[in-house]
Amino acid sequence: MNAEVSIIIPTYNESENIKGILHLIKEHLPKNTIVEAIVVDDNSPDGTGKIAEDYFESLKEKTRYTINVINRKTREGLSSAILNGIQQAKGKIVVVMDSDFSHPPQLIPKLVDALKQSKTDIVVASRYLNGGSIHGWSIKRKMISKIATIIAKKGLGIKESDPMSGFFAFNKDIIKGINFDAIGYKILLEMIVKIKGVSIKEIPYTFSNRENGKSKLGTKIILEYIHAVGKLYRYGKKEQQKETRSSVRFVSKAARFFSVGASGLGINYLTSILFTSSLDMWYLHATILGIMFSITSNFFLNKYWTFEDRNFTAKRTAIQYGKFAGFSSIGALVQLGMVYYLVDDLSVSYPVALVLAVATAAFSNFILNKKWTFKEKVWS
Ligand code: GDD
Ligand code: MN
Repeated sequence: MNAEVSIIIPTYNESENIKGILHLIKEHLPKNTIVEAIVVDDNSPDGTGKIAEDYFESLKEKTRYTINVINRKTREGLSSAILNGIQQAKGKIVVVMDSDFSHPPQLIPKLVDALKQSKTDIVVASRYLNGGSIHGWSIKRKMISKIATIIAKKGLGIKESDPMSGFFAFNKDIIKGINFDAIGYKILLEMIVKIKGVSIKEIPYTFSNRENGKSKLGTKIILEYIHAVGKLYRYGKKEQQKETRSSVRFVSKAARFFSVGASGLGINYLTSILFTSSLDMWYLHATILGIMFSITSNFFLNKYWTFEDRNFTAKRTAIQYGKFAGFSSIGALVQLGMVYYLVDDLSVSYPVALVLAVATAAFSNFILNKKWTFKEKVWS
């Protein structure tokens, strides 16, 4: 059975902590859940990776709780280690936590539960929410953390109380297609900024400073943090510019949709002719086949090119195809009805009526498919 929850634990020189934390996690697994811990070690000189492997070897029961160790060759930093872990994760739910007992494993079931119950994308364990706290930090370290949090909140417009938390759970699907810079420590911050429309819930907890080993957060990490926030700030600005040009995108998509429609007429005509002349098919059958061919080619061109949807999984594509074909048929009926009404009741000349009807059907088809088939906002 595949793991449902993957717990990512980045480590660098944690020989005194790793066994204990892996054990404590085992004691507090979410109920009825198969869990895999993924230790991402950056070739720690103190042998952390090997200790984790040996610990897993020593376990008797290896089904509900497995431990995988990713041994990286060089030290590439915390965020990059976490990303590496996520890439290997088999679970739909991913939990990220430190290995030095600062993040209580007792909270993992709560994070996972909250994620499953509320329809939230990310559940963050927060030190700064009412009920949360920090235990054992110097005033200086508290100040650094506070200032860093304020910079993120003011600079990037973040509302959560603890966007710098290193302890959180999320649905793995939400990071599909996101390009991470993975600078320094701030992977959660990057997720909050880059995942469009992400929903976040916070749960308070008490962070306790490590008893063993040293924190790796030094001047370098602080400088990296400033660099990372600057990058995210510029990223946000760029996205905003994209937003304000939704009119341009709307028109460009409509233009693509109509060109596809025009190409469909060509395909319809050519296939029908081909079937009657070379295959000697009855002309009505040939026409029906021609229509089916053009609907199919229109669908794939619109999916790939007009709406830039590159996800071709069978079920998704089939559902979209069904809707698209449905709307095309409705469009044809609308066109027919409209021509009839304009010519017969309003005495509009046939060519004019035809142009009006085709335009109306094409435009309503565009809107319907944009909204219902390809699930975009109408105006974007
Ligand atoms: N693989 C890998 N590579 N792991 C690393 C690296 C690295 O370069 N640097 C740190 N780690 C691991 C540590 O071994 C530990 O398990 C975890 O990442 C956190 O590192 P600490 O050095 O203990 O960080 P901290 O306690 O000072 O900072 C914590 O609080 C911050 C909030 O103020 C962390 O939870 C941060 O993520 C958090 O932002
Ligand atoms: Mn720590």
